[in-house]
Amino acid sequence: MSKLARRITEASPKSFGMYEKAMASATPAAELIHLEVGRPCHDTPDNIVEAAVDALRRGEVHYSDMRGLLPLREALAVKLASENGMDVGVDQILVTNGLTHAAFAAIMATIDPGDEVIHLEPFYPQHVGKVELAGGRMVAAPLDAEDNFRINPDLIEAKITPKTKAIVLINPCNPTGRVYDAKELQALAELAIRHDLLIFSDEVYEKVVYDDAKHISIASLPGMAERTISFFAFTKAYAMDGWRLGYAVASPALVKAMLNVTTNDVTHVSTFSQHGALEAVRNGETAVRQMNKEDRERRDNMVQALNQMPGVRCALPEGTIYAFPDVRALGKPSQQIAEEILAETGVVVEAGSFYGAAGEGHLRLCFGAESDDRLAEALNRLSQYFNQRTNG
Ligand SMILES: Cc1ncc(COP(=O)(O)O)c(C=O)c1O
Repeated sequence: MSKLARRITEASPKSFGMYEKAMASATPAAELIHLEVGRPCHDTPDNIVEAAVDALRRGEVHYSDMRGLLPLREALAVKLASENGMDVGVDQILVTNGLTHAAFAAIMATIDPGDEVIHLEPFYPQHVGKVELAGGRMVAAPLDAEDNFRINPDLIEAKITPKTKAIVLINPCNPTGRVYDAKELQALAELAIRHDLLIFSDEVYEKVVYDDAKHISIASLPGMAERTISFFAFTKAYAMDGWRLGYAVASPALVKAMLNVTTNDVTHVSTFSQHGALEAVRNGETAVRQMNKEDRERRDNMVQALNQMPGVRCALPEGTIYAFPDVRALGKPSQQIAEEILAETGVVVEAGSFYGAAGEGHLRLCFGAESDDRLAEALNRLSQYFNQRTNG
């Protein structure tokens, strides 16, 4: 007799994409080059590590405020005002175990069984999983590759029904690398206000933007603060993915509702790691700028190399650590291309279809996860694959 809950048995099966296929493949692990993962290759800056170690040595080993350490939330409120244009009090900030946990708490606190949640497509599969665990229904709003995946409010409005409760926005966008501009965000905000919807705004890549791109938090637009739950994290900005540190920002009432989830699932985020986070907010910017510079160089190298490969067209990502090249010229499904690349070259890339039908015809390659040498080697191998394909 199955003892599993329906929220598990009735949710559509979640795939881990090409990572699982790579681990099960015949290629020896040492030969695999992982461009499908989404983590920074940098290590956490020393001053942040030291702050956490000092906290441990000082005996910061006990329970702390369930919403997050007060000095951390105070520092975050200052950061949110100066960098994100969000004027919030400490009761509007909830420190969480990574962005994933902030989003989980928000979705569990607001989504009832049967509620519909719109995901701009290509979407981030993990957020779909959370909606399904809450009993909600995921509705994809496909954006147009020909329009560089711009936010087109008409395409989104067509998916709104009386059951729609929220829209998930990922800005800067994984997997497309888009950083949405003020006009696009304003259009989405107007839609949310007109239909009285919540926005779940994933801003995990807020600091990973290049050139002239400017990250704008949708909650800073008029009328949006009360209907947006914004998610941030230390993950990508400060290369702290393994620390599991993020935070949600919302109205005091919504934060209180989310606290009902987080106090029951984790109580709070580990105390000493929050001291590392405090150091990151106070003194992390020099390291962020340096990491950003290195990521931009990697991005430029990858995009230039991809565009020299026959059958590949790659727009310059405005943010994130992903290139999302168009490989429709090969005339086969992206999953098949990703599997051929794995089998023939040992390079692991993600199929665009993993992010929904609107991502079909594309591949997602992370330029931020591997060392420069291994990235160069991966691009050589990919070049051979595409040259062979187009030479018959
Ligand atoms: C769009 C997006 N949201 C959330 C996450 C996960 O963030 P965290 O590790 O802080 O939970 C990722 C990680 O790759 C991501 O790309």
